[in-house]
Amino acid sequence: MSQTAVANTHRATLGSLTVLPLLHPQGCRGYLVADPASRQALAIDIHLDLVEDAAAAVQQNGWKLPYVVDTHTHADHPSGSAALAARMSSTRIAHQKANHRGVSRHPADGDVLHLGDQVVTVRHAPGHTPDHLVLLIDGAVFAGDTLLIGGMARTDFLGGDAGQLFDSLQRVLGSLPDTTVLYPGHDYQGRVRSTLGQERQQNPWLLLGDRATFVRQLRANPPPRPANMDDLLRLNREGQDIPNSISAAEAMRLVAAGGQGSVIDVRTGAEFDGEHIAGSRLLPLDQLAQSADQVRATPAPRLLLCRTGSRATMARDTLQRLHIGGLTVIEGGIEAYKAAGGQVERGQGVISLERQVRIAAGLIVLAGVLLANVVHPGFVWLSGFVGAGLVFAGITDWCGMGLLIARAPWNRRSNRASSGIASACAASAPSACAASAPAPAACAASGCAAPVPTTDAAPACALPKRPQSS
Ligand SMILES: [Fe+2]
Repeated sequence: MSQTAVANTHRATLGSLTVLPLLHPQGCRGYLVADPASRQALAIDIHLDLVEDAAAAVQQNGWKLPYVVDTHTHADHPSGSAALAARMSSTRIAHQKANHRGVSRHPADGDVLHLGDQVVTVRHAPGHTPDHLVLLIDGAVFAGDTLLIGGMARTDFLGGDAGQLFDSLQRVLGSLPDTTVLYPGHDYQGRVRSTLGQERQQNPWLLLGDRATFVRQLRANPPPRPANMDDLLRLNREGQDIPNSISAAEAMRLVAAGGQGSVIDVRTGAEFDGEHIAGSRLLPLDQLAQSADQVRATPAPRLLLCRTGSRATMARDTLQRLHIGGLTVIEGGIEAYKAAGGQVERGQGVISLERQVRIAAGLIVLAGVLLANVVHPGFVWLSGFVGAGLVFAGITDWCGMGLLIARAPWNRRSNRASSGIASACAASAPSACAASAPAPAACAASGCAAPVPTTDAAPACALPKRPQSS
């Protein structure tokens, strides 16, 4: 298991079912739900980065995985459903309206799935998207993006509808008891679960009073559209893999559309200081293995950038070995990006790594020749070794000397790598699926004197408390 998926830490038992949450640093939440008696399990909303983790958990527990479910079309992250289902020979499940290639089962509202003797009820809950499903098992709801902990999903793209979301909250969740455990499709603050009772008490969106206020607030101030959404939709709907590489011109288009937070610059800190794409994230090639979770936290498709493209290609190979997907190399690197007209921010940097390699190789060759003449003829092999290394680097595009020099102290310095850049990305990720918080004016508009609900206020909320008798 990667350090990302802390499933076992949050393993829970619901009735006779086992729940393993899979947490992604981008805030996405996926789940494995298993019936230990029959050893049958289903997977819900598994992120592409966590396919290996999910498969490993299934195999380690001795489960079978007959079902892989997408609660809806994800626009903010790559779904791992197709990859997981192919690996585990599972049936993919999504709503008919999702129209996902490779999905063979489209449950209608109220259909049930069986895990041994256990029943999972599938409800159609349009709102966040028209194809949204919610899964109910005894004592818990896997709500996808229908209800988030302390928040509400946005409805401003992919055919979302705030009024439908209000109606779905009432129709699908309204009759469930307060004790029902809520497992959401996202949480951006590290929380794993809540209960419907807690949400009815504390979630500002459930305290808005009436449908009209809810709709007006949810439509106001929509967060920025997720960067690179088109590529994600091609993957999640049509099964088209995210391209291994894109041209510098295409990268410019994505950055102009707000995708700068997805650019991972794998050059050295000094090169980054010299010039970089504003809003990009510095994760030097030699530190990638330790920075895997920072890569995962970067919205996919992640655009890998170096000077000319070769280090970015090596970075992609390294990250793929760590089971991180959604990686695209910017062809020709920042040199091609600039040549295509892309804007970069400039600061103080050292001379380029390539020039440092040339200088170092030249100095060693020179030293070999001098020492061979002055000290011992055998020193000529020093020059020969460097010559052979340069030929090898030219043929394979792998330069050991460059990688070595990149670790030098003068190449590591960067004033802005870990603070400013990281926060630029963190600011974009949380808004991907959640709506902005409702404005304080909402309470006044709904006539609420205080935001905390009372029993009397409950019937007016979007998610009314279940009557005691039912
Ligand atoms: Fe979503």
